[in-house]
Amino acid sequence: RYAYVNGRFVPHGEAMVHVEDRGFQFADGVYEVVTIIGGRLADEQGHLDRLARSLNELRIAWPVAPHVLKLLMRRLIARNHVTQGTIYLQITRGVAPRDFKFPKHSRSSLVMTTKRATAFATPEQLENGVKVISIPDIRWLRRDIKSVALLPQVLGKQQAVEAGAFEAWQLDPDGDVTEGCSSNAWIVTEDGTLVTRHADNLILNGVTRLSIIRLAREAGIPFEERAFSLEEAYRAREAFVSSASTFVMPVTRIDDRTVGNGKPGSLGERLRQAYLEYAR
Ligand code: PDD
Repeated sequence: RYAYVNGRFVPHGEAMVHVEDRGFQFADGVYEVVTIIGGRLADEQGHLDRLARSLNELRIAWPVAPHVLKLLMRRLIARNHVTQGTIYLQITRGVAPRDFKFPKHSRSSLVMTTKRATAFATPEQLENGVKVISIPDIRWLRRDIKSVALLPQVLGKQQAVEAGAFEAWQLDPDGDVTEGCSSNAWIVTEDGTLVTRHADNLILNGVTRLSIIRLAREAGIPFEERAFSLEEAYRAREAFVSSASTFVMPVTRIDDRTVGNGKPGSLGERLRQAYLEYAR
């Protein structure tokens, strides 16, 4: 298995970055996770568009031109013989002596790794759905940038796992759900309306989220893009999370409440199928 590190494909065990890489010292970098299905990159352009936006917001230069990046991703996937899984790519502001302000001269670092997956969800997860817990959202106010500063999400996910849950839904000070630690949050209301939070600076605008919105619109499913409270989620008919690595994952428990009848809902399942069909 190989990793890509700044211009070279190196054996995974020997892939290293400099100790003064700003990603390492300041989390001064951004990333993307793109799903590979049938050897192809799902929603590739959406991920590249968001990467461009993240880089632009932080004024980090492209390490290579976008079309070269696309080529390098394909080369790594081919070298590692990945037909199903994910590719991780990270770009940082590069290596410079530790100093908070931007270095005058640094070259952006680019690293990439791949991960194989036999399945994106277990049969058990699809059959029974997963549990989420709610936690306060303690992140910064630029969650629209896919930055590698992920400590709040690391702590949140660990808390979820220790509570026997798959994900933690983060709450803003009004008690509204922002999103999961590494996924977007969705509900289907009692009257059958699909709802996910509007994308502003308080959530990451998921590429999967955007595709699901488009698919739902095309299917004529009633849809609202707005904040929803934890209380509304407790009363929802269905709930699910979306991300590149899970697509649509049914949620059947929120904290100690059962969602709907406790089984994955039909609308979520329909959107999962629609997304898979679109992506492969
Ligand atoms: N996480 N919200 C957050 C905070 C995320 O970290 C992610 C993705 C999403 C979903 O975005 P997308 O549909 O583009 O994957 C929403 C990735 C998978 C990760 O960090 O592993």
